[in-house]
Amino acid sequence: MARAKTQFVCQNCGTVHSRWAGKCDGCGEWNTIVEDDPTGAVGRGPGKQHKKGKPVALTSLSGDIEDAPRIQTGIEELDRATGGGFVRGSALLVGGDPGIGKSTLLMQAAAALARRSHRVIYVSGEEAVAQIRLRAKRLGAADTDVLLAAETNVEDILATLAQDKRPDLVIIDSIQTLWSDVADSAPGTVTQVRIGTHAMIRFAKKTGAAIVLVGHVTKEGQIAGPRVIEHMVDAVLYFEGDRGHHYRILRTVKNRFGPTDEIGVFEMSDGGLREVSNPSELFLGERNDKAPGAAVFAGIEGTRPILVEVQALVAPSSLGTPRRAVVGWDSARLSMILAVLEAHCGIRLGQHDVYLNVAGGYRISEPAADMAVASALVSSLAGLALPADCVYFGEISLSGAVRPVAHTGQRLKEAEKLGFGQAVFPQGSADLPKGGSGNWKTVNALPDLVASIAGSKVKLDQDEDE
Ligand code: TYD
Ligand code: MG
Repeated sequence: MARAKTQFVCQNCGTVHSRWAGKCDGCGEWNTIVEDDPTGAVGRGPGKQHKKGKPVALTSLSGDIEDAPRIQTGIEELDRATGGGFVRGSALLVGGDPGIGKSTLLMQAAAALARRSHRVIYVSGEEAVAQIRLRAKRLGAADTDVLLAAETNVEDILATLAQDKRPDLVIIDSIQTLWSDVADSAPGTVTQVRIGTHAMIRFAKKTGAAIVLVGHVTKEGQIAGPRVIEHMVDAVLYFEGDRGHHYRILRTVKNRFGPTDEIGVFEMSDGGLREVSNPSELFLGERNDKAPGAAVFAGIEGTRPILVEVQALVAPSSLGTPRRAVVGWDSARLSMILAVLEAHCGIRLGQHDVYLNVAGGYRISEPAADMAVASALVSSLAGLALPADCVYFGEISLSGAVRPVAHTGQRLKEAEKLGFGQAVFPQGSADLPKGGSGNWKTVNALPDLVASIAGSKVKLDQDEDE
């Protein structure tokens, strides 16, 4: 008899290896590879014999679509991130670090939907019913008709869901606690997580219920990362935030039914998550206008403009290799800006430590922040504060030229609304708002920007150093 083959699967990314290794080639994580039983593979039910396939009916693209496809919670920040509400018959994954507030958010969403007379079932495998009740009480949701279950077995959950009326929304908190009789590996392993997810998705498609799966992201790799099921679900949202800060961002990473660049902003309070409908005010909250090294970036998240402060600190280094530390932005992008400043503006930072921080723990992903970053760096190096009421945006190319970015009008409008009278952005930017009262300055190359901030001060300082 042939020996049963074993395989080794990375619990973080799902890569299959033929032998155990300390580090996964697929994702580079350490200690994430565990032995797995290939016979418990997804899609092969217990004891099923191979049989001849039977034809299914083919159908046309046009046809009746039953029900209103979206279920709106009325929590605007959440509805925005999902692209207009939960979609019936779809599966959505909400990922995030443990303790970030996923269960809180979903309990609030469940309560909001129950208030709108939707049938909502909340299945928790992590907390006991008493704990969930306690949280619901704290959130002011205890009086709603959300149906609770503390269960982790996939077959039992499906049987529960199948009785009575079809639920509108089912929340599974979390996928890592699910286990099925089909496979004998432990809960939280790739096999179990996949089987559980697969079963839930099948249930959603069959019944038209919307399913929300909660997934913890961990660095340790003991529990399968939600990444292994990202491709299976219809939408993926990540709930992010910084322990040191109160606000949380719900970011869309994948959405088969809507845009993927939307965010929802919340603030964690005693009574749960509070919506933040004007995030700029939050990120600009505690500004020190007089300090050099701070520039306000007029960014866009999805359809919404957001102003956020970029802070830089440039200081002479005592180390052989100066430090470069970045929080909230791409460090490769910072290196690029430093190189362009050196090559095209004669600003040498090889002897300086450079620290860059985006205020409030926010994370910028737009290249449009280049100009704000460069301005903050130059301002810090020259020791000159930038005008307190000025915003910066624009992409910097390797040649030192600055490139226009999209949504100029929207960025300027938001800046004006929040009392920023000045703006510096690339020449040739389209869609400028008509009749704006702002004092706008356009630049067409990085040296112009440097000159406008520091005049000849930066060059002079550096010459003196030598
Ligand atoms: P939780 O939703 O349990 O996180 P997750 O499900 O992502 O693991 O949130 C836990 C944290 O949120 C916890 O540290 C306490 C905090 N919290 C509040 O600050 N206010 C509240 O009203 C609630 C319910 C939680
Ligand atoms: Mg939780």
